[in-house]
Amino acid sequence: MAKTTKKSVFFCKECGYESSKWLGQCPSCKAWDSFTEERVSQVKGHDSYILKKNTKPLKLSQVNIENQERTLTNIGELDRVLGGGIVAGSMILVGGDPGIGKSTLLLQMCRNLSEGGKSVLYVSGEESARQIKMRADRLPAFNNEMLILSETDIEVVVSHINDIKPDVVIIDSIQTMLSTELGQAPGSVAQIREATGVFLKLAKTLPVSIFLVGHVTKEGVVAGPRVLEHMVDTVLYFENESGAAYRFLRAVKNRFGSTNEVGVFEMQGDGLHEVKNASEYMLAGRPEGEAGSVVSCSLEGTRPILVEIQALCARTSFNLPRRTATGTDFNRLNLLLAVIEKRIGIYVGELDVYINIAGGLRITEPAMDLAIIGAIISSCKDKEVDKKTIMFGEVGLVGEIRAVNMAEKRVSEAAKLGFSLCIMPQVNIDSLMLEKSELKDMKLVGISNVKELFRLL
Ligand code: TYD
Ligand code: MG
Repeated sequence: MAKTTKKSVFFCKECGYESSKWLGQCPSCKAWDSFTEERVSQVKGHDSYILKKNTKPLKLSQVNIENQERTLTNIGELDRVLGGGIVAGSMILVGGDPGIGKSTLLLQMCRNLSEGGKSVLYVSGEESARQIKMRADRLPAFNNEMLILSETDIEVVVSHINDIKPDVVIIDSIQTMLSTELGQAPGSVAQIREATGVFLKLAKTLPVSIFLVGHVTKEGVVAGPRVLEHMVDTVLYFENESGAAYRFLRAVKNRFGSTNEVGVFEMQGDGLHEVKNASEYMLAGRPEGEAGSVVSCSLEGTRPILVEIQALCARTSFNLPRRTATGTDFNRLNLLLAVIEKRIGIYVGELDVYINIAGGLRITEPAMDLAIIGAIISSCKDKEVDKKTIMFGEVGLVGEIRAVNMAEKRVSEAAKLGFSLCIMPQVNIDSLMLEKSELKDMKLVGISNVKELFRLL
């Protein structure tokens, strides 16, 4: 049995920094008044209820990675974000706002896995078995072989996992998992950390792949400590910028694949559906013949997605003009406005400027600069941009247009969707490697300065 002693420790609620005394400002994340006192159990031998295994140092060449195979979830978008399926023994954190669809996505994944003959255990600390069954019944063709467990006591959960030895375990959610032995308050930093530690050890020793669901705070971080993010192998965020039907699954950390991959889903009456042709989805419902709307091409990981950037510039009735940036970086917008004023000569000081990336995607890529400026110019001039025109490029402080990465992918995606004119950095055109057939009827216009853009529009 583990031996427990209690001591008082202070944790930063924002980042999980640990201190033996209370501090006004966190030395790690610089947040003010973020420390809370928690009674932490000092457990000696707390892995007593986990399989003991003797480890010894190995030569790299001796390490066997053959059983490091990946299990496909058969949800294409999820597999891609994971880097090609689930790695055995890995721990994956799925974060997102309440109601975004984390439980639904994981339940659909469990359905596919158990259909494929994998043994799956879905542990819910939030819903009863009946509720999970009702939810599962809403999803088409549900396989009823999957195991569910409604439980919040970690020790019970761990002993079940040890008995069943499933291939994949879902813990929904990590915040609800409690250890009576450790005796900590639910949702406290120490408890989340402790619970994650227990599951991590379990994942690596059995091995079993564990998905942890984590709630997200208003600030957009997984509630409780960011230490959680350091501990797990992969962090996925399920997000949706403006309440639209589309949901984006993003990898922000992945030890087994590329980060910044994004999967697109749509929530329907019967669960989440993959959106394979994301560009068409993002551009659906685009206004025609209206000023202030420009299409650009963003790269999400390795995948090009066309997005519509909207700008509205109106004379302000305030002393300080209003600026908002939905779906993109606010500071970047201010910088671009300064470039517009100084290098093009449009006086923006008395204009309210609103920028919106339609469709609920969040893009902070500098390649969007040119399109943001284009949309602002179009709105200021009250002149529409041809609907078959696309633009991308990074804008520097002196108004120069800088090269962007993977221009070929962006151009060919736009060509595929029938765009006929692409305004892009001249430097990219000079080194563009594209076949004639990929370009279709697309005309490329290279520019090297924002003034040229102003003349073109
Ligand atoms: P849920 O998956 O419970 O989200 P989370 O676990 O992230 O809190 O949320 C699903 C939401 O989507 C809920 O508000 C109901 C809705 N929904 C559908 O629209 N269709 C469906 O088939 C299901 C299962 C849920
Ligand atoms: Mg849920």
